[in-house]
Amino acid sequence: MVNKQAKHIKQTCKPSDNKNDVQRFDNIVIHSTNIAMYLCYMKAVFAKATHTITTHLVLPENTNTLGNLMGGQLLNWLDIASAIAAHRHCRRVVVTAAVNNVSFQHPIKLGDLVVIEAKVSRAFGSSMEVFMDIFVEHGTTGQRTKCNEAIYTFVAVDQLGNPIQVPELTPETEEEKVRFDGALRRRQLRLILAGKMRPEEATELKALFNN
Ligand SMILES: CC(C)(COP(=O)(O)OP(=O)(O)OC[C@H]1O[C@@H](n2cnc3c(N)ncnc32)[C@H](O)[C@@H]1OP(=O)(O)O)[C@@H](O)C(=O)NCCC(=O)NCCS
Repeated sequence: MVNKQAKHIKQTCKPSDNKNDVQRFDNIVIHSTNIAMYLCYMKAVFAKATHTITTHLVLPENTNTLGNLMGGQLLNWLDIASAIAAHRHCRRVVVTAAVNNVSFQHPIKLGDLVVIEAKVSRAFGSSMEVFMDIFVEHGTTGQRTKCNEAIYTFVAVDQLGNPIQVPELTPETEEEKVRFDGALRRRQLRLILAGKMRPEEATELKALFNN
C-alpha cells in the first residue's frame, strides 16, 4: 500500500528534467512514504492482537516458608505478561506507569502452574490499560481455577523516554467491550490518585455516583 501511494505521488507530481527538481520530488515521495507508513502504524488494533499467555511453574525459590508463592514474584510475572501485551499493541518500547489493581485472594502453592492471560483493554494517548486474568493449574490434578485479576498501565516511550502516541484499541467480544467501557473510569480514578487529574474533571467517574 505504501509503495502504491509513493508511486502514485511520483506519477502525479511530474517533475521536470531539472536535476534539482527530480531530487526535490524524490524527497516528497520519501516524506509521503513515511507519513503513509505512520498512518498504517496508527491504525486501530484489535484487542485480540494483544492477547498474551504466560505459564510459570512455582519453584521453591518463589515461595515463602509456608510453601506459598510470594506476592512480589507474582507481580513480576504480571509485569512481564502485561508488558508483552502492551508492546503487541503499539510495537514500541513500553514502561510500567502504574500497578493499578492486584489482590491475592487464594494462596498459590509450590508445584502449581500459574497461567496469566493478558490483553490491552483500552488505549488512550500514550498509555494503555492491560487487564489480566490469573489461573492456577493444580500440579497433580491439572484442574484450572481462576484465582485473580490484575490491571497494569503502560506508557509507550521513544528512545529518550518521552511518551509517544499509540493506536486506538478496538474491542470485539462482550468481555472486551465491558472492560473497554470501564477503562475510562478506572483511568480517571488512577490519575486523581496520582495527583494528575482534578476530581471535578473526572466526568465519567462522577456520573457513576450521580446515576
Ligand atoms: C510513565 C512516564 C513515561 C510518564 O511520563 P510523564 O512525564 O509523567 O508524562 P505525562 O504526564 O505526559 O503522561 C504520559 C501518559 O502517562 C500517563 N500516566 C502518567 N502517570 C500515570 C500514573 N501514575 N498512572 C497511570 N497513568 C499515568 C498519563 O495519563 C499519560 O497518558 P495519556 O498519554 O494516555 O494521556 C514516566 O513517569 C516514567 O518514565 N516513569 C518511569 C517508568 C518506569 O521506569 N517504570 C518501571 C518502574 S519500576
